[in-house]
Formats: sequence, C-alpha cells, structure tokens
Amino acid sequence: MKVGIPSEIFPNELRVAATPKTVKRLQKQGFEVYIQRHAGAKANFSDKEFEDAGAKLVGTAAEIYGQCDIVLKVKEPAMTEVDLMHEGLVLLSYLWPAQNPALLQKLAEKKVNAIAMDAIPRISRAQKMDVLSSMANIAGYRAVIEGSYHFGRFLNGQITAAGKVEPAKVLVIGAGVAGLAAIGAANSLGAIVRAFDTRKEVAEQIESMGAQFLTVNINEDGATASGYSKEMSKEFIEAEMKLFLEQATEVDIIITTAQIPGKSAPKLILDYHVAAMKPGSVIVDLAASSGGNCVLTKDGEVFTTDNGVTIVGKLNQLPNQASQLYGNNLCHLLDDMGKAEKFNINMEDAVVSRAMVTYNGKINWPPQPLPVTAAKSNATANVTTEDPKVTEQKNAKKQAASMLIRLLVIGGLLGILGQFAPSEFMQHFTVFVLSVFVGWQVIWNVSHSLHTPLMAVTNAISGIIVVGGLVQIGSMANASDNLPITILASVAILVASINIVGGFVVTHRMLKMFKK
Ligand code: NAI
Repeated sequence: MKVGIPSEIFPNELRVAATPKTVKRLQKQGFEVYIQRHAGAKANFSDKEFEDAGAKLVGTAAEIYGQCDIVLKVKEPAMTEVDLMHEGLVLLSYLWPAQNPALLQKLAEKKVNAIAMDAIPRISRAQKMDVLSSMANIAGYRAVIEGSYHFGRFLNGQITAAGKVEPAKVLVIGAGVAGLAAIGAANSLGAIVRAFDTRKEVAEQIESMGAQFLTVNINEDGATASGYSKEMSKEFIEAEMKLFLEQATEVDIIITTAQIPGKSAPKLILDYHVAAMKPGSVIVDLAASSGGNCVLTKDGEVFTTDNGVTIVGKLNQLPNQASQLYGNNLCHLLDDMGKAEKFNINMEDAVVSRAMVTYNGKINWPPQPLPVTAAKSNATANVTTEDPKVTEQKNAKKQAASMLIRLLVIGGLLGILGQFAPSEFMQHFTVFVLSVFVGWQVIWNVSHSLHTPLMAVTNAISGIIVVGGLVQIGSMANASDNLPITILASVAILVASINIVGGFVVTHRMLKMFKK
C-alpha cells in the first residue's frame, strides 16, 4: 500500500505530516512512502533525510493525490487539492468538520474516505492519536515563551545586590490541555500563576500545576459528558468578565485558551479589559484562529495597542517537533487500522467511526456522542445564584452527619457482638474495626496530588505488618499448633510485601519521568 505526504500549501502552515523517523516507522508498518519534494523544508527536514529514511521523492502534489492509497496531511485541504484526489483515497488530516461543511460535501462527492484528526474522540485508548492534545501542549508552552519575550522582563522574582525584582503575574484563561501546559511553563519560569476555567473539575489540576484557581460567585458548572465545556449563561460570562477586569489591572501576561467545540471562541477580554492593563502587559490569544478570546486580537498578527499592551495572535508552531508528534499520532492511528497488511476501515470501531467524516460517498458528521468523563448528573445543572461557600458549608454538614451515623452503626454492631464473643477476641476485634474505619476515612479524603506521600506512609505501615506477621509466625513453637494464625500471618506478609514492592516500582517509574 502506498502512503503519500504532500507539501502543505498554506503559507502559515510550517508543519509536515511525516518526518524521517515516522517514514521509517511507516515502512515498518508495511507501507511504501512517497513524499513531495521540499515538503519538510519549513520544518527543517531536508529531502535527503527523507530519502535516506527510505521515502521516494515525487515532484508534484498531483502524483501524491492521484497514485497513493492513503494521504497524510496537516492542514485541511483546499478545494483545488480535493480536485486532485481519486475515488477511494483515504485522507488523514485536520478537517474541522463542523466549520467546513462545503469541504465535507466535496470530499463525499469525490468518494474520499476522510478521517478528521481533530475529531478523534477524547478517550483513553485514543490518547496516542490525539493531535489536539499533542499540538495544544506545544501551543501552551510556546504561549508562555512568546508572552515572556514580548513582556521583556523577568518572569521570576529576584533579590540581587542591585535591587529586588518582583515576579510577573500570569493569568491563564481556560485550563484544557493548552492551558495546563501554559500554567506548567509559567510556573517553572517562576511567575505567579492564576487560572480560570468554567469546568470546576479542573480546579485540582490547576492547583497541582502550581497555580491559583480563580472562581466567580455563580454556581454554574461548564462540564459536559463530552469532557468539553458548554456555552455558559449570560450571567456567568458577565461575572467572569468582572473577575477578568479586576485581574487585568494586576496581571502582566494573560494567556487565553478558551474554546467551545464547533463554535467560535467566546469573547472574554473586551476593549475595556485591555484598556485597564498596564503598559508593557501582554495578551497571548491561543484562540486567535477561531475568532479570538480577545475582541482586539488580529489572527496571524502581533501588534501593540495605543495604551502599550501587546496582543499576540500568532504563535511559532515549533514545526520540527510538532511535525514529529503529529506524525507519531498518525502512525498510531494506522497501527490501529491494521497497518498495511490488514488495513481496513472498521466503522464499528469507536475511534474510526467517529473521526471518519466522509465514508463511501456519504457525510458521517456529526458523530454519536461519546462521553469522556463520567460527568456527574448535576454537571450541567441550571444556574443558581447560591454562594459556593454556602454550598460548601451544607456539604460539610451532610458529611459530618453521615460520619456520625456510620460511627453509631459500628458502635451498635460491636455492642451486639460483645454480648456473645469472648472478651479477649472483642479487644482485638474492636482495634481491628476501628483501624479499618480510620484508615478508610483518612485515605478516602486525601487529595490526588498527595497520593505519592500517602503511598510512602502505606509502605511504612506495610513494613510494620511484615514485622508483625514474622513475629507471629516466629512465636509459635509448632506452626501446625495454630494453623489459622500461621495462615493469616503468611497472607499478611505476602500482601504487605506486594504493597512495598509495588510502591518501589511505581516510585521508580515516576522518577524515570523526570530524568532527562
Ligand atoms: P478546549 O480547547 O476545547 O478548551 C480549552 C478550555 O477552555 C477548556 O478547559 C474549557 O473548559 C475552557 N473554556 C471554555 N469556555 C470558557 C470560558 N467562557 N471561560 C473560561 N474557560 C473556558 O479544551 P481541550 O484542551 O481540548 O480539552 C477538553 C477536554 O478534553 C478536557 O476535559 C480534557 O481533560 C479532555 N481531554 C481528554 C483526553 C483523553 O482522554 N484522551 C485528551 C485530551 C483532553
């Protein structure tokens, strides 16, 4: 089977859908690879590198679209490119199907089987093919670098002999993949980072990345079953804008990443926000291509307003690494589709069926919804104006009441058992039940970000259990004298040892993630 990679014709598109490394991988998958001359030039990949990797160079896009079975592309094709495609071609590319109905129509008429890489569902199995995530991660990082460049001052605070430098304050709006990457990068450069998102479930992620989660006084959650945010009510957006006005006077850099799938980006930074910012401040608008989160953003441009605020509507794509990651995502999808030998379009597959936007001459869009997170049934609850603090107090009261009931039930059961069981047994049994209860309560209430230290504590407890088990076994002159105790002690030693070894393995794997 022939896989082809054409040059990207849009001037601002610097990436290419394959790199010398992915060309090798495609060949291992059994494909013959054809690439248009100079396709990788803007991403710093020479024709020679592609040739050395085993790709065959061709002169024109027409040869790629006309002769290959599968075409890999980055930017959605122009109509002139679709004209070159043959019937039955499988196209893997960004397509933005909700925004490009005419393109879908034309692809269907041409009987091109087109997979929109931007429509790969956000499920765990598909993470390796998720181009939105791999590209958003790069954009989030780069937004901080470019924001810092235009800001032109330190991001971290410093105390030097020459004087004190205050750390910069960065506000990140929208904490999806790009937002979280931006928080991480800004935090690692030493800035004070604040973040806002309509989905409350991201609060913990924001805090674990080292930023402060900002909230508004409206009890509405943007979370939906798809994992994306819904469009928020007018009241919420107004409250959000009030919050941003307060922040605009304080912060030095605002990075906006807010998006609603299939819609233009919500307008969150209006002209009066920009006017309130200090001269020298920067806004990096990652939503520029879908209309911008700031009303003043110019897509593809960087400019400075009259009051000295630089608005960045264009980012360097880091095309070399971006092409590598994008190419890897494509290879993973081709792996899943059976590689060259068993290549097939399985419309029963949850990923392929949802991303295949035109199939056998028909438009297959919009797809069946596929939930990403088990969104709570109250996630899309109606707007209420109850103060979140009051809700928190109510929840705390409810929790205290249920804890009291549980304690009373346990006490009652122990009391009943005490009527019949021997007193020595009761003593041990009470300690056992209480430790199970206390352990459960403690572990259940530990926040996810503290699971690593918790693991260290459970390892220590496991160590004590091993010692206890060994003492029990050792104290028995003849093991067969008290077989149940010997068996219990052995099981305790085994389970605790598994916990200790598992702890070491997990810690080792986590440490490896930080090794350069
Ligand atoms: P996105 O690019 O669609 O939106 C960016 C962020 O903007 C989102 O966090 C959204 O809640 C926020 N937003 C929307 N309207 C806003 C407003 N008015 N004010 C402030 N923030 C606003 O999101 P992205 O990065 O594509 O991630 C979407 C979801 O998909 C997330 O839940 C993410 O965790 C999930 N995901 C799941 C993956 C998987 O399981 N394979 C992979 C990647 C992401």
